[in-house]
Amino acid sequence: MDKEQLRLQLERLQEIGIDELFYTPDGWSSSSTTEESHRSEQSAVKPSEDSPLDEIARLVRACQNCPLSATRTNAVPGEGNHSARLVFIGEAPGGDEDRLGRPFVGRAGQLLDRMITALGLSRGQVYIGNVLKCRPPENRDPLPEEMKACAPYLDRQLDIIKPLVIVALGRFSAQYLMGSTVTIGRLRGQKGSRGNAVIIPTYHPAACLRFPEYKKYVWEDLQKAQQILNETKG
Ligand code: URA
Repeated sequence: MDKEQLRLQLERLQEIGIDELFYTPDGWSSSSTTEESHRSEQSAVKPSEDSPLDEIARLVRACQNCPLSATRTNAVPGEGNHSARLVFIGEAPGGDEDRLGRPFVGRAGQLLDRMITALGLSRGQVYIGNVLKCRPPENRDPLPEEMKACAPYLDRQLDIIKPLVIVALGRFSAQYLMGSTVTIGRLRGQKGSRGNAVIIPTYHPAACLRFPEYKKYVWEDLQKAQQILNETKG
């Protein structure tokens, strides 16, 4: 990385509120020359029409497996690269996502976007989804029966994508993916696995907006994710 690239990277990190860096032997950042960037964005935005993920998206949009289908404006199946090596999983759509039918497009989503950019990646290179595909009224916490009804869609999505790293954003995502009931504060810092994928639980971007000091922990966790991606070819 030359000086100019370094300056730009530091600016990106500052934008997301990171003003402390922790040096690791593998460095603290990546550039667009990471293996991840070799995946073409074209393939991310132009999946074939009958791809298995599109089929799941159709099922999600028609789903009436739980009462949230009656209160949603749009279901939010998830979006991104169908063979992403890095996947982000949140809890459930909020108001903006419900209105637009797309994941993480509100304020928390904008922070997530800035973090993805700071990793040297774009939204088109990763996959972004949620455990619940429909918004709980007033953004209340997901109910266990809603998680039970909806999570099979996420399981199927992950089986298809086969990512290397799954970043679980927030308590409900981390608890579901880690098969745990402990708090996100205790899950964070641990790693889980799902098939060949490493699960990295971290704070939800919405929590980072409320508690800006969480951003540096999320950034540490994202660097771990990036290290795994960089160490694994393919
Ligand atoms: N919060 C989530 O967990 N998911 C979204 O898609 C948006 C906000």
